[in-house]
Amino acid sequence: METTRLSWFIMKQVLSHQRKLLLSQRLTCQISTIRHFGSESEHHGHNAINIKESSQGNTKRLTKEELEARQKAMMGRNLPKRRPVEGVKKVVLVSSGKGGVGKSTVAVNLAVGMKQLFPSKDISLLDADVFGPSLPRMMNLSGEPFLNDDNKMIPLQNYGVKCMSMGFLVSEGAPVVWRGLMVMSAIEKLVRGVAWAPSDVLFVDMPPGTGDTQLSFAQSVEVDGAIIVTTPQQVAIQDAIKGVEMFKKTNVPIIGCILNMSSYICSSCGSETKVKSNINRLTDDLSIELLGDLPLDLEVSNACDEGHPIVLDSEKHLQGRKFETIVKKITGKLNIT
Ligand SMILES: Nc1ncnc2c1ncn2[C@@H]1O[C@H](COP(=O)(O)OP(=O)(O)O)[C@@H](O)[C@H]1O
Ligand SMILES: [Mg+2]
Repeated sequence: METTRLSWFIMKQVLSHQRKLLLSQRLTCQISTIRHFGSESEHHGHNAINIKESSQGNTKRLTKEELEARQKAMMGRNLPKRRPVEGVKKVVLVSSGKGGVGKSTVAVNLAVGMKQLFPSKDISLLDADVFGPSLPRMMNLSGEPFLNDDNKMIPLQNYGVKCMSMGFLVSEGAPVVWRGLMVMSAIEKLVRGVAWAPSDVLFVDMPPGTGDTQLSFAQSVEVDGAIIVTTPQQVAIQDAIKGVEMFKKTNVPIIGCILNMSSYICSSCGSETKVKSNINRLTDDLSIELLGDLPLDLEVSNACDEGHPIVLDSEKHLQGRKFETIVKKITGKLNIT
């Protein structure tokens, strides 16, 4: 086994992977050009377009349906294929529209909580937020991963959960100034270049929004389900809906949603004040199950900052028990026994 600074290693892999992605991007461009022509012809009242069919230059008129079937076949042939993660049984994304709503807090507590409730299961946690990794602090982990004989990074481990994060590969405080293909390549490396096997469940703590990371997962990884984390406010729900729409379009099943900071617990008197919630826009309008709600509680954030997730002290803390209840619902939905 060999130890090494992994930043150069990642960069090399990232660059080689970039070439492949560039090819697939070029193809996507061609496809959208064809789409554009398709919609143009529709716009002008035609329902068929001429397409070059052979190298001899013969053309054949295609109906709209034939054109769509052809586009679908091309996309299926050339876009990255969704593949399972080696040695991982279930992949669960923890996602949100906005940042700061508690995705990382939820992801960490779900992973640690699942390990506590099902000690025989192998649970892993990937921090896919390459720009703002939270996992090292929240899981109280630091240091660079080792490489195994297959050149895969060995996850760091705490509380029985295997973890990987960009935060282990770049020094704390150093900004990651990547975009587009670089991000997608880094994600590919964090997913495929890590020795996750064996893992019964791999939780993925996603960055906010519907950007490159979300697209990478939706296009290239077999995902078993997504959990949407949101706060009660209209602006957060509005962005959560966009995330839901993206998952629906890319055929990622939605396990349910978690309403975080649904109320405020006063740290001096313990009284609870509810925050006006618009969660029904997810639960009623989009039929997404509410897996649970959590108040804004100082104990939760202190536990995060100390790298000791609150679910570890569930006998003492109500919020820890709430996380356990959510874990049980998720294991039920994923058929983990
Ligand atoms: N229920 C909660 N009660 C109190 N603080 C919380 C709660 N959920 C999250 N936080 C705190 O809010 C901050 C942002 O949470 P984080 O999980 O990093 O959000 P995200 O990953 O969505 O950006 C963190 O400091 C975390 O400790
Ligand atoms: Mg986060």
